[in-house]
Amino acid sequence: MPRPPPALTFTLHARCSTTRARASTLLLPHGPVQLPIFMPVATQASLKGLTYAQLRDAGCRLCLNNTYHLGLKPGKEVLDAVGGAHRLQGWGGNLLTDSGGFQMVSLLKLAKVTEEGVRFLSPHDGEPMLLTPEHSIALQNSIGSDIMMQLDDVIATTSPDLERMREAMHRSVRWLDRCIAAHRRPENQNLFCIIQGGLDLELRRECVEEMVKRDTPGIAIGGLSGGEAKDAFCRVVKECTGLLPEGKPRYVMGVGYPEDLVVAVALGADMFDCVWPTRTARFGNAVVPTGTLNLRNAAFATDFGPIDTECRCEVCRPVSEGGLGITRAYLHHLAGKETAGAHLLTVHNVSYLLALMGRVREAILEDRFPEFLKGWFERRFPDGA
Ligand code: GUN
Ligand code: ZN
Repeated sequence: MPRPPPALTFTLHARCSTTRARASTLLLPHGPVQLPIFMPVATQASLKGLTYAQLRDAGCRLCLNNTYHLGLKPGKEVLDAVGGAHRLQGWGGNLLTDSGGFQMVSLLKLAKVTEEGVRFLSPHDGEPMLLTPEHSIALQNSIGSDIMMQLDDVIATTSPDLERMREAMHRSVRWLDRCIAAHRRPENQNLFCIIQGGLDLELRRECVEEMVKRDTPGIAIGGLSGGEAKDAFCRVVKECTGLLPEGKPRYVMGVGYPEDLVVAVALGADMFDCVWPTRTARFGNAVVPTGTLNLRNAAFATDFGPIDTECRCEVCRPVSEGGLGITRAYLHHLAGKETAGAHLLTVHNVSYLLALMGRVREAILEDRFPEFLKGWFERRFPDGA
């Protein structure tokens, strides 16, 4: 039987001539998405503090949910009854779901991986549970996400056990085959594979070869952002992108520091996600071109400027231009006491990263990405650090 066409079209618009940066458009079932992109994480079908209208107004067209969290609550029956997670949340944009295993292994120290799947004790009632590739895909089919991720076996990059790393890489390939076989809606939902292999370039090359053969509509690079050194991170991303087909989107999972995003784009990656910008907002931190500001710092008590004078987000924009005109002094006043403070900082941080990727894209399209990169790093690290 011929395979139905994938629910995704990837159009490459421009490539930087000196780096590997690309600008492209990803057409998904819930509309087009401009790449490179940062995808905010709404783990529980809620982006802490933000409404979906605010997320849309910040320019977001693709955000993340987590299969494992939605599978536990509201659960498959409710998702099937309501017709999927877009309806549940009232979100008209695209959704990407992570498969769940990674979260269990990183959240629940008691999770145990076997060939069958990931075994763990339910955080709700302590019941033993098993997440298999088939179960993850069935849940993601009920969620109806535009991009679904395969269940993978993820080992911390800092692990010294190369044999275990090799086993995890091969198991991830076997689990991809089980995910593909279990997928019931390939005409509406795109299943992405995830390259594993830790920091070992030979394992990564082997994994790329196996995964690319399976011809999924998009490809993720996993197992990074686990505390490895920056140069090791860069080597892995570069090795993988160098071997990947040009005509498919490349997603580096779990990356969200502005400098890592900009570098990974230069190395040929297109998509990123991370909880950091939303999590750090709840600790009173604002992302700005020169780094991060902690608004709890007493120095901001009488600072009546916006978080970032160049930012066009709803929070920073002056009232005269239809924004909220929020000052650093007000955020300092709210910080740590009122949820409104965290909420405003979340809007700014998400907007900042979306706008940063927009500027990166513009620079690639206008054939001035190398200059952009240089200027951006000089400002971020003025001492050349
Ligand atoms: N999030 C960050 N890294 C990973 C990974 O390697 N696998 C999955 N499934 N999710 C991730
Ligand atoms: Zn702002």
